[in-house]
Amino acid sequence: MYAQLVSTEGMKKPEDMTPEERAFQERIDRGEKIEPKEWMPEGYRKTLIRQIGQHAHSEIVGQLPEGNWITRAPTLERKAILLAKVQDEAGHGLYLYCAAETLGVSRDELMERLHSGKMKYSSIFNYPTLTWADMGAVGWLVDGAAIMNQVPLQRTSFGPYSRAMIRICKEESFHQRQGYAVMMKMAAGTPAQKAMAQDALNRLWYPSLMMFGPSDKDSVHSAQSMAWKIKMNTNDELRQKFVDQTVPQARYLGLTVPDPELKWNEEKGGYDFSEPDWSEFFDVIAGNGPCNKDRLGARVKAWDDGAWFREGLVAHAEKAAARRAPIAAE
Ligand code: 3HC
Repeated sequence: MYAQLVSTEGMKKPEDMTPEERAFQERIDRGEKIEPKEWMPEGYRKTLIRQIGQHAHSEIVGQLPEGNWITRAPTLERKAILLAKVQDEAGHGLYLYCAAETLGVSRDELMERLHSGKMKYSSIFNYPTLTWADMGAVGWLVDGAAIMNQVPLQRTSFGPYSRAMIRICKEESFHQRQGYAVMMKMAAGTPAQKAMAQDALNRLWYPSLMMFGPSDKDSVHSAQSMAWKIKMNTNDELRQKFVDQTVPQARYLGLTVPDPELKWNEEKGGYDFSEPDWSEFFDVIAGNGPCNKDRLGARVKAWDDGAWFREGLVAHAEKAAARRAPIAAE
């Protein structure tokens, strides 16, 4: 139903494609995976570098709001769980940078594009995490939204991306459950703890809906990305599925989704809900969210502070290669 609403402006019609492009599209339509050394249209390569690169950056920047709470987790058990989760996100970033590198872009170049603001990362990480309940809400809502988007990406057409997603999804579903477990504890706790859980839901609900991207009519890449099976669903389709899945979970917690328009629609078989404030979304992705400057500043500082270490590794690798060279020549 939604797929018809995405703009197809700028997409090539089959009759305008070169024979190579047509053969490529036929492979995609047959459900074949595309591997790094195979021929691909330049637009396909660029779209993948953009999407996988942004996704990798999101995993890495996404460590910041939660990393902030590791020292303040309420128990040793919660601290160990949160530490493991944040470490997993670093791993996800690394698999995804590796997948992007197979397309001919270097990791240094991706980093430069992030640090100079040429590449984006998920809007959600530009919001602050103010209380411990936010750790529950991030796991439940943010990882929940991430999974909703990433499960279909396991079937994406580019082999390395698809394979990275299979492993990432296994870990993300654990992350979502640990977040929900925190919410269950808070919601069943004292009135003050329950109020903190409700407040976290109030603040993170709409930013979580924004994670799926702009509404289909404003999504510039969806039609081409879906034709290439880089994306498997439109932004609105996944947002709807997320709302339908999450509302009963909120009810089970005894919490209220902060949307007075939320209503089950029997005919549609899903909830009607209010759209996020799209002007806020576009403002956040333009760099003007509450935490954009802090998040990017923290990443640039970490990169600069790590320069001596990277230089040391390269010097060691060069020395080791020089030592091996005479042996190889024999
Ligand atoms: N945050 C930041 N930018 C966003 C965005 C978001 N939530 N949603 C869309 N945008 C940007 C797009 O990148 C594009 O800008 P660009 O042309 O400068 O790149 C513009 O808004 C228009 O949006 P489109 O719908 O046309 O863009 P896409 O077709 O790329 O769709 C997407 C956006 C659905 C996010 C898609 O890129 C996607 O599925 N990406 C892979 C998944 C991903 O990146 N997830 C990150 C989630 S966080 C995470 O996984 C961490 C975990 O620990 C929780």
